[in-house]
Amino acid sequence: MKVFVTYDIPDKGIKMLLERGCEVDVYKGEEFLTKEEMMERAADADAIITQLRDPIDREFIYSLKKAKIIANYAVGYNNIDVGAARERGIYVTNTPGVLTEATADIAFALILAVARRIVEADRFVREGKFVGWKPKLFLGYDLFGKTIGIVGMGRIGQAVARRALGFGMRVVYHNRRRLPEDIEHQYHATYLPLDELMKVSDFISIHTPLTKETYHLIDRERISLMKPTAILVNTARGPVVDEQALYEALKEGKIAGAGFDVYENEPELTPGLEKLDNVVLLPHIGSATYETRERMSEMVALNIIDVMEGRIPRNLVYEI
Ligand code: GLV
Ligand code: GLV
Repeated sequence: MKVFVTYDIPDKGIKMLLERGCEVDVYKGEEFLTKEEMMERAADADAIITQLRDPIDREFIYSLKKAKIIANYAVGYNNIDVGAARERGIYVTNTPGVLTEATADIAFALILAVARRIVEADRFVREGKFVGWKPKLFLGYDLFGKTIGIVGMGRIGQAVARRALGFGMRVVYHNRRRLPEDIEHQYHATYLPLDELMKVSDFISIHTPLTKETYHLIDRERISLMKPTAILVNTARGPVVDEQALYEALKEGKIAGAGFDVYENEPELTPGLEKLDNVVLLPHIGSATYETRERMSEMVALNIIDVMEGRIPRNLVYEI
């Protein structure tokens, strides 16, 4: 099989494919390939390993001559026109599970960083402004005893709930479907309609995939329901939140702060966002640990090997 990899990934999976006799074409450049360049290199590949920023749209998918599988190096696959792939009988796979804990960690890192003003305080010390302990220096917000509202209670949302319990927080959640009672009990989690969650939460953490239904799920109206002391963090997909509306709420002090790992028009920021002190901005690094990115690499390879050996790939995103 010929495998095209649109951007270099950790070695493990590449080695596994080479060991099984695959011909692997890894794009090793620093700058991203254009869609046209990718289409050209993918045209005669049997398998393609794609990145979450690659626009694998209908045109791209119909330009593939031999592909049997598109293995996305991510859990989210909103970058791929899954319907078009399905029409053409091309499998689409993702990397669920292996990045759950790393992503939940980054959500919590953002919650703590915003609540306790870690980045601002670090900057202050570096700038030589720390002249001694002061009773009102860098006051932030407690996590203990507060309510966290988890929007999207799948694998990652539940991993955030586990952390929240450890921090002594009360967990409320919203999900497309209410969770079975035993799972709710496990997290002492209370199901709430989304508007209610927006009103009662001190911290709101987003963990839904991006779909037609979740686009701007957190819109201007819902942002206006938040407490003035509330903090929102998004480690899922930017377009789930109306970023302009969130920016305005942050700028006008209508909410306390926000943590971003993802952006509505990634990698562009809403102009002015970078000037606000009450935000922490990360470059989409939710799954960026050595361990997790190796596991993701292994997982894309295993899915391709499944197809090579005549099996349905283990992480197929649609039902057949
Ligand atoms: C990261 O955002 C992913 O979807 O894996
Ligand atoms: C803080 O450093 C304290 O001792 O209260």
